Amino acid sequence: MNTDPLAGVLYKKADKILERSYVPYSSQGRSAVLLLDDGAMIPGVRVENASFSLTITAVINAISTAVALGRTDIQAIALSDVATPGDEAFLERHPFGPFTATNKRLYVREGTDQLAKPGSFLDPILQPLQDCSNETAIQAARDVSSRAFIPESQFPVGCLVELSDGRLIAGVNVEHPLWPQIICAERNAFGTAVSYGLNPITKLYLSSPVDQHATPCGACRQVLVELAPEAAVWMDRGIRDAEHARIDQLLPGFFSGNALRRSL
Ligand code: THU
Repeated sequence: MNTDPLAGVLYKKADKILERSYVPYSSQGRSAVLLLDDGAMIPGVRVENASFSLTITAVINAISTAVALGRTDIQAIALSDVATPGDEAFLERHPFGPFTATNKRLYVREGTDQLAKPGSFLDPILQPLQDCSNETAIQAARDVSSRAFIPESQFPVGCLVELSDGRLIAGVNVEHPLWPQIICAERNAFGTAVSYGLNPITKLYLSSPVDQHATPCGACRQVLVELAPEAAVWMDRGIRDAEHARIDQLLPGFFSGNALRRSL
């Protein structure tokens, strides 16, 4: 398969979004661009965290965005830099693949003869809701959870993040046989906002239909507090009214990482 000219287009797109990376600790941005079967593309950037191991890789960020948008038809993944050993393990064992390296910057789904002609990036913004009540948004988060990819847990989670202008972005949990590579719905939605250069985030709505008392896990609290400490988290409470708390109230005494920062 001669993919070179089209791969070149994808590398250029990856380079263009590189500056959206959130990399205050390493100063080394990384990005990934997914090519879907119809030529649509999805971006992903690296989102670091003061607790380094919670860093979202560009590849995981992009693939989780695709799932939240209802797309799993990933044909190829182009990277801004050569794949890390972590990227390789993740992609080679990915349930939507397996993806094989044509070189260390381009992974292609097995059985792909010809790459689709790259089109434009998919719009991550959700259709506006009928009203702007918290209950409606919680119900929408519950609905979004039907897109979760959950072969490991069968535990769907849906999340919406709201930007200051009222626009909404969806996230769902996306699982992988390597459990440390699983991403929660909340981090998925935040990562999508960063990848598309959309901010600030002012609210987050969280729901799991199988546990209508869910709260963000510790890892998500640590990531969210760094990206949007003052945002309100609205949590599903089943038949009762949704409850809310500020993200920094959910993680008192959080690790700020200020002593680690090199740049922003
Ligand atoms: N999960 C979330 O998506 N958000 C949370 O805050 C808690 C946990 C997901 C991750 C994994 O797919 C499954 O739920 C079980 O932990």
